[in-house]
Amino acid sequence: MANTTLSRPPSTAPDWTISQRWDRYTSAEHAMWDRLFARQAAMLRGRVAPAFLDGLDMLRMSRPGIPDFMELSERLMKATGWQVVAVPGLIPDDVFFDHLANRRFVAGNFIRTPQQLDYLQEPDVFHDVFGHVPLLANPVFADYMQAYGIGGQRAASGGVIERLSRLYWYTVEFGLIRGRDDELKIYGAGIVSSHGESVFALDDPSPNRLGFDVKRLMRTPYRIDDYQQTYFVIDSFDDLLHRTLDADFGPLYHELAQAPDYEIDTIGPGDTIYTRGTQAYARMKRAHDKADRPEAAGAPARGD
Ligand SMILES: [Fe+2]
Repeated sequence: MANTTLSRPPSTAPDWTISQRWDRYTSAEHAMWDRLFARQAAMLRGRVAPAFLDGLDMLRMSRPGIPDFMELSERLMKATGWQVVAVPGLIPDDVFFDHLANRRFVAGNFIRTPQQLDYLQEPDVFHDVFGHVPLLANPVFADYMQAYGIGGQRAASGGVIERLSRLYWYTVEFGLIRGRDDELKIYGAGIVSSHGESVFALDDPSPNRLGFDVKRLMRTPYRIDDYQQTYFVIDSFDDLLHRTLDADFGPLYHELAQAPDYEIDTIGPGDTIYTRGTQAYARMKRAHDKADRPEAAGAPARGD
């Protein structure tokens, strides 16, 4: 995700890209990729959308070591016209949207340390490349990502990026999809690259799982600090693309400006409910937080 209050480091190109410096990775860094890859590949079997596994195969991402973005981009370019470019970390929103609108996916080039195995402040190459890139080999999802970039450029000029960022969050990062057998599967990169959330998002009784609806979703805050309390389920990538392209965002943003947000764990009368979550996990975490920090007792839980 991106940010607006950043200044460009001198080592970056005007579009904020840097060289991946693939030859500089150490064997320990490649081994960290392999460890994460093996763990997630085993975890995702039967849980992830088949298009994700097709992408891993097509891009030959199961070869050992951190992928070289040049090679990855060559294969991706042939499949859907996308490329992967390296950036130093968070980048401004307008730069992020411009890359997506031009079919360039920006990825961090560093990899987490063993101490950061399960929690990271900023996305690393494993999240960005393992999590996001396989679906960019899917032509429909590839079009959706570009459409999001173009929508972002429009939203930036209208001052409504926060609304739009919820669409990215609840689809590209934390989306669920209905499989052919009606079982839910994972496709969001934030879930796919997380050992814990790839179980929680599908199996835990805590979170709500609701049918995808652009307007509803844009009124729903999200968690940046923990597992989501609500997930939205799409029927297919075709449906996601078309419902997003067909949405008339100008009037929608106008309407949303008058509409209050939902509570992060609320279910509304118009929602399609796959799971009415118990929210037990979020409650348990809140209780732990209060026990750890008594001065925070009574303070509202962070929900955005
Ligand atoms: Fe991401």
